[in-house]
Amino acid sequence: MTLTKYECSDCMQKFLKELPKCEHHLHLEGTLEPDLLFKLAKRNNITLPPTFPPTIEQCKTRYDNFSDLQDFLDHYYIGMSVLVTEQDFYDLAMAYFTKATADGCLHSEVFFDPQGHLERGISLDVVVSGLSHACEDARTSFGTTNKLIMCLLRHLPSEDGLKVIESADKYYQDGIIHGLGLDSSEKPFPPELFEECYALLRSKFPEVALTAHAGEEGDYTFVENSLDKLKVTRIDHGVNSKHSESLMKRLSEEQIMLSLCPLSNVKLQVVQDVGHLPIDLFLERGVPFSINSDDPAYFGGYILDNYVAVHTRFGFNLEQWKQISLNGINGSWCDEGRKQELRMLVDKVCSKYVDVL
Ligand code: HPA
Ligand code: ZN
Repeated sequence: MTLTKYECSDCMQKFLKELPKCEHHLHLEGTLEPDLLFKLAKRNNITLPPTFPPTIEQCKTRYDNFSDLQDFLDHYYIGMSVLVTEQDFYDLAMAYFTKATADGCLHSEVFFDPQGHLERGISLDVVVSGLSHACEDARTSFGTTNKLIMCLLRHLPSEDGLKVIESADKYYQDGIIHGLGLDSSEKPFPPELFEECYALLRSKFPEVALTAHAGEEGDYTFVENSLDKLKVTRIDHGVNSKHSESLMKRLSEEQIMLSLCPLSNVKLQVVQDVGHLPIDLFLERGVPFSINSDDPAYFGGYILDNYVAVHTRFGFNLEQWKQISLNGINGSWCDEGRKQELRMLVDKVCSKYVDVL
């Protein structure tokens, strides 16, 4: 059942596009659109397995019918197998930054999965070099800002995670990689399995930015344990926090931001419709959140599509959208100067629309 309760007028769409947005939950490998995927498969002489849809059209149909997170991940890991050279990683990231900029996204904090490449014999240097050059070029060409966040795959042993953290040392040292996250199949692999990995990185870099996927398919204790055991300052997804009043109170008091992904949650059957997400509840309880696209090539929408989907279900007014935008800025990992710049831009856009919305 699709709940379309509110119209998103042309004027509202324009406003949402112009409203300065920050994206905090975006897997670069999940931005691999089928056309680029097939182009890179050809360029690198890679034959995809027969379980992978053979045409762009068939990809679209299959991507519309994921049964859950694992069903998606099975495609996601096959998809990323076409990424081989530094140029491939650069092209992938640049295509994302181009689209995000067109959507009015001014600051992006983007994930990548080194273990998904290392296990195929692609070195960390190739991956980071391609991605970080794209980050640099996006900053100079578009005037946007960005941060790279390395994720550990929770279906792999934590010893493997420790090794990756050691090998990424120089990139954390140089600030090329800014943070650490945790993704992949959630329920069988709770956060406490990765306590040592997070402790190791914190011991090397006490100021490092930490996040983890939690409460997407796992229950709200996955969110609590990520905060308590991994010492993260942000939660990716976290929708299941809605089941605990005391957790919502804590998220609000400690201003721990949830990076929500509405269209992803529908595509992976976390909820049946965007309107069933606790977005109004979180806003009411003062739980900070941002709105993100997660894996836009697989879930059928980039950041603006997610904003529009939220508007059509919740019909927020200008003040509420302003609050959402400011919460995203406050929860970002850019410096205070950049946050100030972004807040001023929010004021400017909101003043422009205050009499017409
Ligand atoms: N959840 C967990 N792992 C992931 C996701 C997600 O939504 N996207 C890519 N890896
Ligand atoms: Zn994710």
